[in-house]
Amino acid sequence: METSHHFNFPRLIMLIFVSFFVLPVLSNFTSFLFGDSLIDAGNNDYLFTLSKANLPPYGVDFKPSGGLPTGRFTNGRTISDIVGQALGGKSFQPPYLSPNTEPFDAIATGINYASGSAGVLDETGFLFIGRVPLREQVNNFQQTRTYLVRMLGESGTREFLQKTIFSLTIGSNDVLNYVQPTIPFLGQGKVSPTTFQDFLISNLTVQLKRLYELGGRKFIVAGIGPLGCIPFVRALNLLPTGKCSTEVNELIQGYNAKLKLVLNRLNREMGPEAIFIYANSYDIFMSMIINYHRYGFDDASEPCCGGYFPPFVCFLGRNTNATSVLCNDRSKYVFWDAYHPTEAANVIIAKELLDGDETKSFPINIRQLYNYNP
Ligand SMILES: *[C@@H]1O[C@H](CO)[C@@H](O)[C@H](O)[C@H]1NC(C)=O
Ligand SMILES: *[C@@H]1O[C@H](CO)[C@@H](O)[C@H](O)[C@H]1NC(C)=O
Repeated sequence: METSHHFNFPRLIMLIFVSFFVLPVLSNFTSFLFGDSLIDAGNNDYLFTLSKANLPPYGVDFKPSGGLPTGRFTNGRTISDIVGQALGGKSFQPPYLSPNTEPFDAIATGINYASGSAGVLDETGFLFIGRVPLREQVNNFQQTRTYLVRMLGESGTREFLQKTIFSLTIGSNDVLNYVQPTIPFLGQGKVSPTTFQDFLISNLTVQLKRLYELGGRKFIVAGIGPLGCIPFVRALNLLPTGKCSTEVNELIQGYNAKLKLVLNRLNREMGPEAIFIYANSYDIFMSMIINYHRYGFDDASEPCCGGYFPPFVCFLGRNTNATSVLCNDRSKYVFWDAYHPTEAANVIIAKELLDGDETKSFPINIRQLYNYNP
């Protein structure tokens, strides 16, 4: 009896530690986020890169920073910020590259690995110099997982990751690189749109399977939005107000259809303990652009910040005043800058993904995914 006492003492301490400190935290919403500038919450601030959102007026409506820039590529919260809050998250997932991010944050909230100008393909975004492509984002998660195992043990880590939401929002920059005639794609001439879609799908699938092998079970994978309608692409193609590039949107719709098929296949192959959701950002965003008045917007074609034509400089320098770079009412615009939606638009997209029907989020919505217990 004596010896068993000896053996149990450290275990008891561990049990007390786990039940007092770890368990209350574990009951919160946690998420690991992968993606590009739609989701980046400041990782690019720690890179040498031309793709940064670290200057005003970025973040002007972000309350936790008092309106100062945080590295988010919008005026306020991103879609994942809003989704996390709606599911009871106490704070936002901190950027992996920030020196203030503690390993323990992985257990408390999850971590954000997303990087502006990054793509599914490693070469995407090279003109911006620094960025973390998807493959490296997954490598970074692998580092986090090593910490989790030290903290929670292998089976504790497995259990923790089973409940955590893995969210991927990536592919837009791959498409933007592909459609810009001035940017060489893969060294030689362009591959066909079909080959390009298949490259994206197969590379993304490799990373999804890696995340599954590392213990991910609840996945949200966002389709690519209608980039043919963003101010940058409309300017590139000299399209008048209200017109979108059909060529770009068709490329994306083809990709999204293939993505949905792959996710359905993964759902069949991996069985009920893993679930992959297809987030139909394309249709949600398109409906918002077409019916913008119904959603409470006044403008769905021009950016709120940076003017109505190239080079779209959304930057509040020392000698510029806010009225010269900003629209009057940020809540009335779908686009914040030439590439990214406003917080007002993000709120609508997040709501549709959280509670929408199968046409918005397939096979279940994000709230159902959160409550899913196989
Ligand atoms: C990933 O994409 C590249 C093009 O960037 C392609 O050459 C390669 O075959 C793809 N890899 C996989 C596993 O599909
Ligand atoms: C700010 O810029 C606008 C437009 O360029 C100009 O009309 C206005 O006078 C400026 N206001 C101040 C306070 O400098």
